[in-house]
Amino acid sequence: MFIAGVALSALLCADTVLAGVAQDRGLAARLARRAGRRSAPFRNDTSHATVQSNWGGAILEGSGFTAASATVNVPRGGGGSNAAGSAWVGIDGASCQTAILQTGFDWYGDGTYDAWYEWYPEFAADFSGIDIRQGDQIAMSVVATSLTGGSATLENLSTGQKVTQNFNRVTAGSLCETSAEFIIEDFEECNSNGSNCQPVPFASFSPAITFSSATATRSGRSVSLSGAEITEVIVNNQDLTRCSVSGSSTLTCSYV
Ligand SMILES: *[C@@H]1O[C@H](CO)[C@@H](O)[C@H](O)[C@H]1NC(C)=O
Ligand SMILES: *[C@@H]1O[C@H](CO)[C@@H](O)[C@H](O)[C@H]1NC(C)=O
Ligand SMILES: *[C@@H]1O[C@H](CO)[C@@H](O)[C@H](O)[C@H]1NC(C)=O
Repeated sequence: MFIAGVALSALLCADTVLAGVAQDRGLAARLARRAGRRSAPFRNDTSHATVQSNWGGAILEGSGFTAASATVNVPRGGGGSNAAGSAWVGIDGASCQTAILQTGFDWYGDGTYDAWYEWYPEFAADFSGIDIRQGDQIAMSVVATSLTGGSATLENLSTGQKVTQNFNRVTAGSLCETSAEFIIEDFEECNSNGSNCQPVPFASFSPAITFSSATATRSGRSVSLSGAEITEVIVNNQDLTRCSVSGSSTLTCSYV
């Protein structure tokens, strides 16, 4: 209920503002995009028309995953204001299908950013109280306290600026705790009623994005990235990321 309320008020707010600035296409497009922005479950489908894989990064699968965290550098996006990409950590996007608890930031191809949290299938909601700038080191973490509750936190490690969203008795969908993931995503934009979701044009990024100190919690214990499956963002049958794990807790993804 609470989550639905947040998403709905964001939509109403965007609609209200849109009515007043219809002549400003750039602003209108940005507000509409934020209202229907959603990170989606992992898709790995070679027959898909445009995006064969929406995720690049590292996926840990099994049972009992209750937390994921990493520190991520903020790159500069390229490719124009319509292009975007996302870096986030989460639980349950790989196989669960009913929910994902996740948080991270988006970069746009015009050099702007959003910081957000999401309990899929709800849309993402922007965090207020934290800004994202190129070169920042952002600590991101999610913790599930039950299958329908938990928290998402972002922190600028340089300033200590920190924001947290708590979730309680979420009715939109329940977690499975069957994966933890560290992801670069070609995310979706949907109509405000959730229909016609389309992947955004994937924005380039530079320098490479590094998830450092990447760890998950599984059955109460810290687990490393060794044993993670690696995936790449694939659009029009071309890999747009090149991701690799070094050591036990560092994932690096370059734009190619
Ligand atoms: C994060 O910290 C760095 C270093 O102090 C600072 O330059 C940057 O502006 C901060 N980012 C935000 C969004 O406040
Ligand atoms: C959702 O909205 C679009 C237009 O924005 C409309 O064409 C479509 O029929 C709506 N779908 C549902 C299920 O209401
Ligand atoms: C994606 O699908 C391909 C082809 O079926 C498979 O080889 C690969 O392991 C899958 N990737 C992941 C991360 O599951």
